[in-house]
Amino acid sequence: MTPSDVKATLTFSDGSPSVELPIYKGSVGPQVIDIRKLYAQTGRFTYDPGFMSTAACSSAITFIDGDKGELLYRGYPIEELAVNCDFLETCHLLLYGDLPNAAQRADFTKRVTSHTMVNEQMQFFLRGFRRDAHPMAILTGLVGGMSAFYHDSTDINDPHHREISAIRLIAKMPTLVAMAYKYSCGQPYIYPKNDLSYASNFMRMMFATPCEEYVPNDVLVRAMDRIFILHADHEQNASTSTVRLCGSSGTNPFAAIAAGVACLWGPAHGGANEAALNMLEDVHRTGGIERIGEFIRRVKDKNSSVKLMGFGHRVYKNYDPRAKLMRETCHEVLGALGMGNDPILKLAMALEKIALEDEYFVSRKLYPNVDFYSGIVQRAVGIPVSLFTAVFALARTVGWIAQLNEMIGDPEYKIGRPRQLFSGAVRRQVKPLAQRV
Ligand code: ACO
Repeated sequence: MTPSDVKATLTFSDGSPSVELPIYKGSVGPQVIDIRKLYAQTGRFTYDPGFMSTAACSSAITFIDGDKGELLYRGYPIEELAVNCDFLETCHLLLYGDLPNAAQRADFTKRVTSHTMVNEQMQFFLRGFRRDAHPMAILTGLVGGMSAFYHDSTDINDPHHREISAIRLIAKMPTLVAMAYKYSCGQPYIYPKNDLSYASNFMRMMFATPCEEYVPNDVLVRAMDRIFILHADHEQNASTSTVRLCGSSGTNPFAAIAAGVACLWGPAHGGANEAALNMLEDVHRTGGIERIGEFIRRVKDKNSSVKLMGFGHRVYKNYDPRAKLMRETCHEVLGALGMGNDPILKLAMALEKIALEDEYFVSRKLYPNVDFYSGIVQRAVGIPVSLFTAVFALARTVGWIAQLNEMIGDPEYKIGRPRQLFSGAVRRQVKPLAQRV
């Protein structure tokens, strides 16, 4: 961390002595005020629910400029990665800090593909779930369960264990997600095929059957790969912070990633892609484009809990750059499938247009996020709506691991332990049952 020449001075109106706080500069982005010694010096905590102004770590992986709508992985703009690289190159970049050269690419791909199978016992574990279980419930269980299968890579303090668990998680996530899908529709699991690319292997495990081989469509495979790249990391979002907090206790990587999967499930986070498509289908079913005006009125009504899913972001106060790329992919995919007149796409575009011109959305800087279009693409590829968030989890796994490993390697790392502003009852005595009112 580079110290700034400027210092922050905190003064109090009750006469308590003021304190001087160091300020650090990042390579880009806002400076941070170091408050680590604040409690020791003043006996006071800071209060910041939702981490609106708090940097909980220092990181060199992903940078977002929410006002500009810019997203960089290790300094590379997402727009360049999305058109010039594939997902495994992006994984290499996030994990090791740079894009691979040809030899590194071949070596990394070989290491990942040689771990795509899961322990055969996983099938029996999966069999314990109801067939209609939500895929995210299954995935949370299966990923956590991996720690019971791979004992030789559970020591977070051992760099070799961290490396092998990273490769295992990236390699096995597509297999687990496809198994969860096959289980839900009662079809046999399809084993991975290691001469295929990461994305086409996933699609084959999803859509092939023992009686019919899956013939990959290049446009769809490329779209799937792009979905993976766009979702690979997003700095200190809720699920990544969950992984860091969970991993900070020294728990094993599989348990920490399972915590990330659980957090991602929520509709305010990764679950928004499922919620956005359900919303579009609901509006379509109940009147379609004709009903948009009434729907937008409900979204703006403070007494209703209706939100325009796939819109708004804690950090982006401009168009999410991933949404732009996803919108482009959406048109490519629907065009390639002859679905250019898809009513859900038309509805999404009409909703987007109205929202981008409406004062409510403009004044709050609410723009489409990646989830607004990713659901339409996934649906066109043939992925069921309930599996959308699991696909997101598959892609985000590399980001979670890169962030977890960065934290463990950081000499300043400590177990995460937030403080609180207590507002409950002060000390009181337990009364015998007969005297309680
Ligand atoms: N529809 C309608 N109003 C919205 C929306 C929305 N999608 N998002 C925010 N607002 C309004 C809020 O009601 C609030 O209005 P107010 O100032 O009048 O009270 C204002 O905009 C600010 O919103 P906050 O909720 O305070 O913003 P926050 O940063 O806490 O939330 C969030 C961001 C959770 C993403 C929110 O925009 C949302 O719920 N969006 C819909 C869900 C979604 O698409 N999530 C995906 C996020 S991207 C991802 O995880 C990959």
